[in-house]
Amino acid sequence: MTGASDSEARRFAVAFRSFLEWVHSEQAGARERNEVAGLVRDFLGEGALDRSVVTRSLPVFEHVNLQTALDAWSQEPGREVAVHGISIPPHHATVNLQQLVTGEGMPPLRLSAPALVDLPNGPGSTLACLHLAVLLVTDANGHYVVMVSGPGEHDQTLDVEIAGLSVEAAQGLHARLGDLRSELNVYRGHVIEVSAAPMGGVSLEFGDIPLTAREDVVLPEAVLARVERHALGVAAHREALLQAGQHLKRGLLLYGPPGTGKTHTTRYLIGQMTRYTRFILTGRALQVIGSAAALARDLQPAVIVLEDVDLVAEDRSFGRGSSPVLFDLLDAMDGAAADADLLFVLTTNRADLLEPALAARPGRVDVAIEIDLPDAEARQRLLALYGRSVPLRLTEDDTREVVERTEGVTASFLKELLRRAMLESLHENAAEPAVTATHTSRALDDLLDSGQQLTRSLLGVGNDPETLPAGGGLGSLPPQRGRGWVTYAQPRSGSQRFVR
Ligand SMILES: Nc1ncnc2c1ncn2[C@@H]1O[C@H](COP(=O)(O)OP(=O)(O)OP(=O)(O)O)[C@@H](O)[C@H]1O
Ligand SMILES: [Mg+2]
Repeated sequence: MTGASDSEARRFAVAFRSFLEWVHSEQAGARERNEVAGLVRDFLGEGALDRSVVTRSLPVFEHVNLQTALDAWSQEPGREVAVHGISIPPHHATVNLQQLVTGEGMPPLRLSAPALVDLPNGPGSTLACLHLAVLLVTDANGHYVVMVSGPGEHDQTLDVEIAGLSVEAAQGLHARLGDLRSELNVYRGHVIEVSAAPMGGVSLEFGDIPLTAREDVVLPEAVLARVERHALGVAAHREALLQAGQHLKRGLLLYGPPGTGKTHTTRYLIGQMTRYTRFILTGRALQVIGSAAALARDLQPAVIVLEDVDLVAEDRSFGRGSSPVLFDLLDAMDGAAADADLLFVLTTNRADLLEPALAARPGRVDVAIEIDLPDAEARQRLLALYGRSVPLRLTEDDTREVVERTEGVTASFLKELLRRAMLESLHENAAEPAVTATHTSRALDDLLDSGQQLTRSLLGVGNDPETLPAGGGLGSLPPQRGRGWVTYAQPRSGSQRFVR
């Protein structure tokens, strides 16, 4: 092998230099040709690079509120806003406003109509929200650009970026948009179902307003009145309480066996509290209680229903050694100012699991109310309630017998009983069904059959062997304590155990 001659090396150097010049000129050309970067830089004019781009990241559920705020803000007098979409070629990463201002490292972007995402802004309506767009703004502050980048497939962020303003003015604009988001918040006053989104996010959905009427909630009058006094009474006397220096924030715990109407009662309350923003958290959603409570504080007066809190009693957010989610939940309940009009309603059928946590973090729950198995009078009312939609042909004696035989069952058991009795009567005469004592009695035999314990569990209609009917014409149920599916373990004691 011999080395290259001098002339060969010179020729290579010349060729390489012209190659580099070509690369540079191509890049410069691409920059010039980049419509979006060109538009932004032309609009901002000289000195655009001397000003910082100021970004604020928002939770994804704020997307619809951001659009609502931008719409209102754009229409303020003395402001002109031109909205442009950005089309990014396939397989290119998204861009930010800093890149558009400098024009560096740009994929070949094109101007287009803005990409929109249609998001719910009410129980039956949607709002088309900017997904990726630049807003060229002219107002008293001069010329500046606002860019909106919605969440992508891989990043769950919503960014608002501002270029062309001083840092202070940009912060002021972010704050103004924040105020508008809060003022015009589309979630205010609605029923909102909260769930945990990927990567620690929170997702909100508009829920239906429950139509549960007072007479549909079969509880002893004293119990229901107490629930109402605590939840609705404070709401009714809000101003007077505040003037008297009394706090409005309150926590109500409904506890008792499964199927007795804890969820049913919360549905009734939610239906009544029409002036309130009503959040419902169940299961995994309880983990995002922190964000939900913060949101509720912004949107007060608000109710936060935390269903089946025992599910997170032993669940640790960051593995062993960290505090249980239940503690986070109780801390979130305490974070709000005392004069915030917030009602927390917790439900559980494992009060025993909850009690130590509540004792360790006192002051969160002011009233605990036991929702117990229905007594004879309640069972009769339940039969009447769920018999309303059934062609029920029971004499007084028949009804009395059903009431007697169902001692110890849950309310949901009685509901299921009527459904089954209806099926029995349909089997007999599909054309003209009529539910008689024969049908209720057959359905009862079936449901209370000792071999049907698992079925009862699956139906959530009560299974506590201590309370399920034994005798009274049923045949006796063998005691089944310790069977895996007997989940209810609430200590049976006075009905006001937790009242502080
Ligand atoms: N007290 C009640 N009055 C009228 N209907 C009731 C009552 N309790 C239960 N029901 C009926 O049974 C269904 C199931 O009850 P619900 O979901 O409220 O039970 P729960 O106490 O919340 O049970 P869990 O502890 O399993 O969550 C209700 O949707 C309702 O139709
Ligand atoms: Mg429930």
